[in-house]
Amino acid sequence: MRAASLLLSSSITAVTALWQFKAVTPEILAQDGGTYLGLPSQDPWYKAPDGWETKAPGDVLRIRPHAYNMTPIAISNVKDTFQVLFRSTNSLGNETWAVTTVFIPNKSHCDGVSNCTQAIVSYQLPYDTSCLDASPSFGLQWGEPYGEIALALGRGWWVSVPDFEGPLASYGASIVAGHITIDSARAVIKVASSEYGINKTSIGFWGYSNGASATESAVEFAPKYAPDLKIAGAAIGGLTPNLGTSGPLLAATQVAGLLIQGIIGVTSQYPEQRKYIVSRLNPSGPYNATEFFWASLMSGWQSLLYYSYVNVFEYFIGGQDDLIVPELTAMFDREGTLGNFGQPNTTIFMYHAIEDDMTPIGETDAVVQKFCDKGANILYHRNAWGGHNDELGNGRQRSLDFFGYIFDGSTKLEVPLTGCKTVNVTFMQDPNTPFS
Ligand SMILES: *[C@@H]1O[C@H](CO)[C@@H](O)[C@H](O)[C@H]1NC(C)=O
Ligand SMILES: *[C@@H]1O[C@H](CO)[C@@H](O)[C@H](O)[C@H]1NC(C)=O
Ligand SMILES: *[C@@H]1O[C@H](CO)[C@@H](O)[C@H](O)[C@H]1NC(C)=O
Ligand SMILES: *[C@@H]1O[C@H](CO)[C@@H](O)[C@H](O)[C@H]1NC(C)=O
Ligand SMILES: *[C@@H]1O[C@H](CO)[C@@H](O)[C@H](O)[C@H]1NC(C)=O
Ligand SMILES: *[C@@H]1O[C@H](CO)[C@@H](O)[C@H](O)[C@H]1NC(C)=O
Ligand SMILES: *[C@@H]1O[C@H](CO)[C@@H](O)[C@H](O)[C@H]1NC(C)=O
Repeated sequence: MRAASLLLSSSITAVTALWQFKAVTPEILAQDGGTYLGLPSQDPWYKAPDGWETKAPGDVLRIRPHAYNMTPIAISNVKDTFQVLFRSTNSLGNETWAVTTVFIPNKSHCDGVSNCTQAIVSYQLPYDTSCLDASPSFGLQWGEPYGEIALALGRGWWVSVPDFEGPLASYGASIVAGHITIDSARAVIKVASSEYGINKTSIGFWGYSNGASATESAVEFAPKYAPDLKIAGAAIGGLTPNLGTSGPLLAATQVAGLLIQGIIGVTSQYPEQRKYIVSRLNPSGPYNATEFFWASLMSGWQSLLYYSYVNVFEYFIGGQDDLIVPELTAMFDREGTLGNFGQPNTTIFMYHAIEDDMTPIGETDAVVQKFCDKGANILYHRNAWGGHNDELGNGRQRSLDFFGYIFDGSTKLEVPLTGCKTVNVTFMQDPNTPFS
């Protein structure tokens, strides 16, 4: 390892809210006695069936009932899981497909009740990697990082976790992520009806950090891309509205690995730009192309450890200048500037730490302002307590309360009926108070 390795792990936890999932290799999987789903890159189920290109976005292509072995599952309140493979649209507007994993609660107020509206949370879990085999559909078999799936299940809601980076693991590409998030919702609603007899659903979206990018771009695209889809609301925390300004700041920091993952991830949607990147990487010697692309064999967490404090520009023949060329900056601006895709038409709870150390709050203020000027419906909490990682946990109860509002009419959170409300809060979750 380049970096001083595992000793750093506790301090890395302090600066980034990241799933500490370790990419599983075929060798490890072969030695494990349990029955698990195979690696997405090798699993025959995990690819689109013949003729899929002619289907419409959100159409169901495959269903895998009882997807996970329930014996080792470390997620509570779950009765069963299934996966859906569905058609979507990539960043260039061409057809693609993706997978979502759905968790069914062991107790829902709809159980045994006819004509009941089942609430569904689409939970965009940030996985921060260009490694397909570190997608949530695979990794969640062993448990979840933050306990949020279990909490939502405990409320009786279904939880759908889309692999929003898609089949190319396009970390950082917000356009494809937004489309996939929307199409996963359409597909799950169809399967709820066709396989589970649930014809009435209400769906809300939730995402923090990179999961916020997917969630936020989804609510921007939805009115035009999916006018058929009614989104009850969206909770969006720790948003990164501008990849172009935040990305280069990561080089040579503790989280340099995220920059490498982002360059690989976004260019997976742009073949021309990928060719250019490959042509500018050092072919041999220290900091070479091979080592650069090792990132796509690592989970987000593993790449943080491996590339910690590496000056990412060293991998390029011409240094940082190689990345400041119009075709790349245009690509990053197109994918990574939120607020430009469309005007959301759903109720939003936005939360952000004022002292966010990963993504400055000013950019989120500006996006909220832009939407509100055009009549959006947003409750925006600016939290004076903690940084990026803290707000993940500090925003949890308020997000659950928000979903209580959109699904069940709970008024714990004072969401305006129309228009916007910005509140400066000072909120720290008491570690001794259980979430509800
Ligand atoms: C649901 O699961 C949780 C833990 O996983 C358990 O405590 C609870 O009793 C279960 N409820 C029902 C109705 O089975
Ligand atoms: C994808 O879309 C682009 C731009 O619309 C087009 O030039 C390209 O041929 C398409 N590629 C595929 C594989 O369909
Ligand atoms: C189902 O509920 C809706 C209200 O949500 C009501 O309008 C409708 O009549 C109900 N249908 C049946 C078959 O009970
Ligand atoms: C749900 O819709 C399906 C057809 O889509 C229909 O066969 C079924 O009777 C409906 N179930 C209820 C409870 O309305
Ligand atoms: C590229 O870098 C890796 C890691 O330092 C090294 O193992 C490998 O030999 C290098 N390859 C070439 C062609 O120099
Ligand atoms: C959605 O659009 C309709 C029609 O323009 C508007 O009346 C409504 O207020 C919008 N809702 C939200 C939450 O933005
Ligand atoms: C929140 O605090 C900021 C300073 O951090 C201030 O400029 C703003 O007016 C406050 N907003 C509200 C709604 O109180």
